[in-house]
Amino acid sequence: MRVKVSAPGKLMLLGEHAVVYGYPCLVTAVDKRIHVEVEKIENEKDIIDSPQVKESRFVEESINFFKKRFDITQSVKFQTNGDFSHRVGLGSSSAVTVATFKALSTIFGKNLTLRDIFDLSYQMTLKIQGVGSGFDIAAAVFGKTLYYLKGGEIIEPLLVNKLPLVVGYSGRKADTPTLIKKVASLHKKKRKKVDEIFKKMSSLVELAKAVIERQDFEKLGQLVKEDHRLLRDLEVSTAKLDRMVEAATSAGAEGAKLSGAGGGDCMIALVDEDKRSLVEKAIEEVGGEIIRTEANVEGVRVEEQ
Ligand code: PMV
Repeated sequence: MRVKVSAPGKLMLLGEHAVVYGYPCLVTAVDKRIHVEVEKIENEKDIIDSPQVKESRFVEESINFFKKRFDITQSVKFQTNGDFSHRVGLGSSSAVTVATFKALSTIFGKNLTLRDIFDLSYQMTLKIQGVGSGFDIAAAVFGKTLYYLKGGEIIEPLLVNKLPLVVGYSGRKADTPTLIKKVASLHKKKRKKVDEIFKKMSSLVELAKAVIERQDFEKLGQLVKEDHRLLRDLEVSTAKLDRMVEAATSAGAEGAKLSGAGGGDCMIALVDEDKRSLVEKAIEEVGGEIIRTEANVEGVRVEEQ
């Protein structure tokens, strides 16, 4: 018996960093997915083929954890594949962890709810990475566009029909735990200023939550622009990300911002479809790489069993 599962990557829309401190964020699942394939084998040990090196620990530890928890001695052959590289920051580690738990629960007939998969995957991420709000896990599990509070205290799907985004990769891999620590040390030094920033971010998220369901992209664009300014104040942007954001808005995007921890990875721009190619070109002209992807897609799913 063989089971194939896939889980989506994610993009943070608004509220990064603040979410680590208990404020809400908005995240959307994207159609760049991580695929895993598992089968039972008669071998003394598990065979794990996870070409994306960064992910292998997430897969190995999740398998060990699951087998221990359910008292399973049967070995498995495990193969992972990605529609994207772990370098671009679309959340490959969380997607692979979520897909691993879903695949194992399916092949071993363990009835895990989506909430169970969220909880197990979040526990695993905290064990391996030490920090994080779990927003990326929520996107991989539940898909769509979510209003989210740290640890899954709130995971609320929003009614979104479309979310026209252009995604630009800055060419530099960001190290999320390092950036979280950087913000923590700024918070320690300038607590009042940073708390103010988080509060402002949080009100942008609340406004955006309503605006996104109304499909008012002009207003959403303004909120996104404001959020990028706050992220700059938080000192997590880079000159390259700023150039890409500026290029996108000058070319007619409704708004643009870095997405995720900062320090590299991706930026996003909200665009009217008729401006898409102009915005893409402007981002490329300042050295960004366009990642074509659709937002607001389905969460983890069994592809074959
Ligand atoms: O770098 P990313 O895309 O994994 O985003 C990190 C977002 C943070 O809010 C900085 C951390 C977190 O876990 O919420």
